[in-house]
Amino acid sequence: MSTVSLVVDGRRIEAEHGENLLGVLLRSGSYVPHLCFASADLPVRAACRLCTVGVEGRDEPVFACEAKAEAGMVVDTRDVQALAWARASFDLVMATHQVRCGSCARFREQGTCDLREIAHHLGAPLRSSWGSCAAPRPGGNSGAAPRGREAVLCDAAGPMRVDAQACVRCGRCVDACSSAGAGILCFLGRGSAYRVACIGDGGDASASARACTACRACVDVCPAGALELARV
Ligand code: SF4
Ligand code: SF4
Ligand code: FES
Repeated sequence: MSTVSLVVDGRRIEAEHGENLLGVLLRSGSYVPHLCFASADLPVRAACRLCTVGVEGRDEPVFACEAKAEAGMVVDTRDVQALAWARASFDLVMATHQVRCGSCARFREQGTCDLREIAHHLGAPLRSSWGSCAAPRPGGNSGAAPRGREAVLCDAAGPMRVDAQACVRCGRCVDACSSAGAGILCFLGRGSAYRVACIGDGGDASASARACTACRACVDVCPAGALELARV
């Protein structure tokens, strides 16, 4: 691969030609909101739609995790239209997440979380649109808990517990489990039933449960404090 030169927020930086643009931006120290991207070495999910940036010569913002570094590229991570798109995507993310910072494991451990940092960067309120969301919540299931703070919080996913009111369906846990863990997590279901699960969930997940090494790779990457080990 050849080395190319880009300008990012007025700074000249170097990258490999064809390198994942979001990876390049993060490595160079620019902040670009993202939830579903963990590493350029893993398949791009392009699910959260938060990573919008302006690129000179393009009519519309581009999703940095789907773009490649090219020679002469001029990138603006504070492009007004890109930020507006990211705010709209963040609203959708927050429609799947109940804000309960006071009792959130991620907040307890870090004093903040990716969602709070994204809200701050975008100048967006840290407010769940859960209650006002007319459509069924992504990840709910047919016997889904009713929405609202009184609803049952945890669904079992084999050795994991997934807080169905916190999970933002970013996929980081699935990627972490596949690259650093036992490879037993997956997404199951479609539409309103789309959810994190164990391979075999809904049938026989006992092999997955046995394979789990309780390494916590999934728990550690969850941006939303949605995962905990059901056994240690
Ligand atoms: S994950 Fe949600 S509840 Fe936890 S600290 Fe972040 S915004 Fe608050
Ligand atoms: S459990 Fe956490 S890491 Fe996994 S998809 Fe949900 S929010 Fe993302
Ligand atoms: S990081 Fe690009 S769509 Fe999620």
